[in-house]
Amino acid sequence: MNIKTHTSINNSISCSKYNYKNSSRQIYPNTTFKGHFGAEKFEKNKLGYIIKETGFFRDLQTKNFVCDYIKKNFINNNKIKILIGGCSTGEELHTYNMLLQDLACKLELTGFDVSETSIKAAKSNSFLMQKIKPIPKGYMDVSFQYKRTLQDSFLAFENKTPLTDEQKKLKELFDEYFTISNIVPNIPKKSLSLKIHQWFLKWVKIYPPEFENKTVILNPNKEKNYNFILGDIMELDNITKGEQADVITFTNALYHILTEPVSYNSTRRLHSNAYKTFEELAIKLKKNLSPNGIFVLGEEEKTQLMDDKIIPTVLKKAGFIGLNKTKTHQANVWINNVK
Ligand SMILES: C[S@@+](CC[C@H](N)C(=O)[O-])C[C@H]1O[C@@H](n2cnc3c(N)ncnc32)[C@H](O)[C@@H]1O
Repeated sequence: MNIKTHTSINNSISCSKYNYKNSSRQIYPNTTFKGHFGAEKFEKNKLGYIIKETGFFRDLQTKNFVCDYIKKNFINNNKIKILIGGCSTGEELHTYNMLLQDLACKLELTGFDVSETSIKAAKSNSFLMQKIKPIPKGYMDVSFQYKRTLQDSFLAFENKTPLTDEQKKLKELFDEYFTISNIVPNIPKKSLSLKIHQWFLKWVKIYPPEFENKTVILNPNKEKNYNFILGDIMELDNITKGEQADVITFTNALYHILTEPVSYNSTRRLHSNAYKTFEELAIKLKKNLSPNGIFVLGEEEKTQLMDDKIIPTVLKKAGFIGLNKTKTHQANVWINNVK
């Protein structure tokens, strides 16, 4: 496997993303845990770049739906097996772990990803938190107005007053699992291109906010129920080793296997083998999911693929039934219907 972290992309992206003053460039003002940000060059299967973005409590509406489904349907199981495909640096797995804490003794969570560096980071149980310092005037308003499914900056706020009731509850849950540590975070060195970029921004009088870098670690008493492994969803049989899972997720990752090799800003198009590849995957999913087990995609998957048809066409044909509707009016939780 040939993976190389592309730090110059990594750095320049984070720099331009946090320029809250310029709204057209204000892509993710709401995200605080940035250790995963950026892209990695990935040559296997000509994927091009891997996009590693993730976050705590991402696609929360769907995650709540999945947790309710698990509680309704699998509560009497001795074991509830959840596979988090394309888990990146681990935030998604920990989100399920937190939201399903009542079922902790039954849960078996496995995160897998094709990226070795992401799996290594996930296994470290530590996360880079970058708090904006000081919070610029107006940032808070912008941050809460701009609704995206990837929004975790509220987890870094010391003052809970501006938070909604839901955010307060999630932050309390998060604080039960994670602690800000004294470990100095490992920040990638500034590349020459980043230095030039920052100099240019200052020259045009655009000042990106400064960050206070912290490491947040998982509390040792929460280190159970889960593991992270290297794996490709197209080789699902090797990951499950014949033991069916109750939930398999592959959120915000499908474009990696169905579109032309991605670069950070390229327009994505389904590649010529997309239907065939997804049909192959659907067969593997059916085989590796328990009866009434569910396959979970992201809330913006249809938009990421830039295609309306491929998800419902392929999954229905393989015998899945869509369970819900999302903002983009397409089911993203699919049940393995077994007659
Ligand atoms: C944009 S991130 C999404 C992370 C997380 N699922 C989320 O929703 O926040 C996509 C991840 O999918 C991983 N990935 C891409 N192709 C994969 C494959 N064939 N098998 C497993 N993981 C894959 C990438 O390495 C990357 O970490």
